Amino acid sequence: MKNSCLECHTLLPPPMNVDPEQANQDIHTQKGLSCSSCHGGDPSQDDPLRAMDPAKGFRGKITRQQIPKLCAQCHSDAAYIRGFNPSLRTDQYSQYLTSRHGQRLSQGDTRVAVCTDCHGVHGIRPATDTRSTVHPLHVAETCARCHADPEYMKAYGLPTSQFDDYRNSVHHRALAERGDLSAPTCSTCHGNHGAAPPGVAAVEFVCATCHVFQAQLFDGSPHKAAFAVMGLPACVTCHGNHRITEPNDTMLGTGPESLCLRCHTEGDGGYQAAEQMQEQLLGLARAIEQAQQVLDRAEQTGMEVGQPKLELGQARDALTKARVAIHGFQPDRVLAEVQTGLEVARAAQQAGTKALEEYDFRRLGLAISLVLILSVVIGLRLYLKQLEANSQKRSNAS
Ligand code: HEC
Ligand code: HEC
Ligand code: HEC
Ligand code: HEC
Ligand code: HEC
Ligand code: HEC
Ligand code: HEC
Ligand code: HEC
Ligand code: HEC
Repeated sequence: MKNSCLECHTLLPPPMNVDPEQANQDIHTQKGLSCSSCHGGDPSQDDPLRAMDPAKGFRGKITRQQIPKLCAQCHSDAAYIRGFNPSLRTDQYSQYLTSRHGQRLSQGDTRVAVCTDCHGVHGIRPATDTRSTVHPLHVAETCARCHADPEYMKAYGLPTSQFDDYRNSVHHRALAERGDLSAPTCSTCHGNHGAAPPGVAAVEFVCATCHVFQAQLFDGSPHKAAFAVMGLPACVTCHGNHRITEPNDTMLGTGPESLCLRCHTEGDGGYQAAEQMQEQLLGLARAIEQAQQVLDRAEQTGMEVGQPKLELGQARDALTKARVAIHGFQPDRVLAEVQTGLEVARAAQQAGTKALEEYDFRRLGLAISLVLILSVVIGLRLYLKQLEANSQKRSNAS
């Protein structure tokens, strides 16, 4: 089908230029839509005045203010979209209107994100396409174009550190370095189109959608009510929101990296719990380390310790569970997991020690049998010599 718009605009300088390659790969072109689906006009006409004739629906310039409504003409029309793709959602515009971006746009602020800031204009791809600007691997950079630009964001008094912080988080590492698409990016926590993800009343509660066990434990803990009174969010108070780092046992206890001492002081219940839980975790970690060393030594001697090594894995699992269990902030909960782990670690260590003892015993046995064999050999040789000497004597005599 003739497309005079593309033919002519490919040749024009920016900002009127349209890149034909991008335009051809755009999902709308792929689905048989054309320039006039968004801009109106008549692509069968070569004459620009006829092609871009307002009488043929040509709109002229589309302002930022108009963009969400333009996209919504189709994307909020469930019957229309269903004709193309029954599984595609049609709530983007209504969600967008509830977001800070949408609210500010309707107040006349055109610097906030509109559909094309996140999706692009003439090279829009499905969200599942790894080259899409809204694919999970690229979302953070898309948001950062504005949110990491202090000049652009100056008027709003918002920090501009989210991108940098996020890039240094466990979540980014899991997503970008290990390709773990179950780890969150900006839009996972904030919602694709602004409204919080399903089942989440506010962004601060989003952690619970993935970290279910920690959230359940927290809900049964003394902090649930205490934090609510202070107006503090649950997980974010201790872990932060964007720069979430790898947790470790020093975040408990009473050392300089302890989170607990931000609020608790020596002698109170929280202080004691922090100390106890850390001791329990460190104790189990040490027991596992020791058992591992003994098993390694036994293995080096060639003894078979595959089974206890495998079983030591259960002690590691118990340690992991104990670290989750700290979120009940009740030392007894942690102790229960730790004891299971300690029993396994001790049994593994015993198996290793036994293997080493057996090795020593076998070596002793070997030494003794060597001595025995040697004495038999020497004895035999002496006996043979004797025989030889005797027969010589006999032949000399004859
Ligand atoms: C023969 C060349 C030619 C054809 C065909 C043509 N255009 Fe244009 N178009 C132009 C030029 C030149 C301008 C810049 C006009 C100006 O600056 O006033 C323009 C401007 C535009 C603008 C910007 C309007 C604005 O006010 O900023 C849009 C959008 C546009 N064209 C879309 C289309 C579409 C859609 C079609 C096909 C239905 C089309 N054009 C066909 C040459 C063409
Ligand atoms: C999915 C809808 C959509 C389709 C399809 C589309 N455009 Fe656009 N186009 C837009 C929007 C929205 C803008 C405004 C972008 C902005 O300001 O960020 C725009 C901007 C433009 C501009 C620049 C106008 C200006 O004043 O800066 C031109 C020229 C243009 N389009 C031509 C085309 C041509 C030619 C095609 C077909 C190859 C096409 N468009 C297909 C939505 C579309
Ligand atoms: C702040 C950035 C942003 C803005 C603004 C935005 N989107 Fe999206 N959009 C996304 C992200 C992120 C995804 C989801 C990617 C994914 O599913 O992993 C998405 C997904 C989509 C999808 C695919 C279906 C779906 O809902 O998952 C459509 C269609 C869509 N957006 C249309 C729109 C329209 C129309 C607008 C304007 C009303 C808009 N978007 C505004 C970021 C944005
Ligand atoms: C004329 C109707 C129409 C308009 C206007 C329109 N779209 Fe679309 N859009 C579609 C259709 C149809 C599809 C293809 C759905 C399918 O088959 O998957 C689509 C697909 C998309 C997708 C890919 C969805 C996915 O993840 O599979 C995105 C993103 C998108 N459009 C964004 C936009 C944005 C942003 C605008 C406004 C600049 C816009 N659309 C304007 C009809 C339209
Ligand atoms: C085109 C620039 C732009 C892009 C791209 C953009 N934003 Fe924004 N965003 C803004 C501006 C400007 C504000 C400030 C509005 C206000 O607070 O009044 C804002 C506000 C926000 C807020 C509300 C902050 C608050 O507490 O006031 C959140 C959350 C947000 N954006 C998240 C995102 C996410 C997530 C993305 C990417 C998926 C994104 N934004 C992409 C410009 C942008
Ligand atoms: C793991 C979830 C999570 C991820 C990922 C995430 N955020 Fe946030 N974000 C939050 C929480 C929680 C808040 C604090 C919520 C509140 O104050 O209502 C927040 C606050 C914000 C704010 C408000 C200003 C501020 O810094 O407090 C902006 C803007 C923002 N995030 C943008 C982003 C951008 C851009 C990205 C990606 C680079 C991102 N967020 C990634 C959870 C997340
Ligand atoms: C979309 C799911 C999702 C959301 C939402 C989410 N996370 Fe995560 N989180 C993950 C994944 C996946 C990992 C990586 C697990 C791994 O590497 O073992 C992770 C890792 C972590 C870790 C490090 C765990 C470790 O053992 O190293 C912490 C701490 C964490 N998240 C806290 C949070 C907090 C706090 C929030 C809310 C602000 C949150 N997460 C929101 C999925 C999520
Ligand atoms: C943001 C402040 C804050 C942080 C950080 C914090 N707590 Fe608390 N905690 C409280 C408040 C407030 C209470 C309820 C008042 C009280 O009993 O002291 C409480 C209560 C407790 C209790 C119950 C005390 C009792 O006597 O019944 C325990 C146990 C506890 N916290 C353990 C911890 C541990 C362990 C950490 C570190 C991982 C920690 N808390 C970090 C504020 C905090
Ligand atoms: C009072 C402070 C505090 C609060 C509140 C808190 N955590 Fe933790 N979290 C910790 C400490 C301390 C560790 C380190 C435990 C260790 O490794 O010894 C940790 C470890 C973690 C880990 C890694 C270990 C594990 O459990 O698998 C994840 C994931 C995690 N927290 C998620 C969350 C989530 C989700 C919430 C909210 C429901 C939350 N945390 C609330 C202090 C806290």
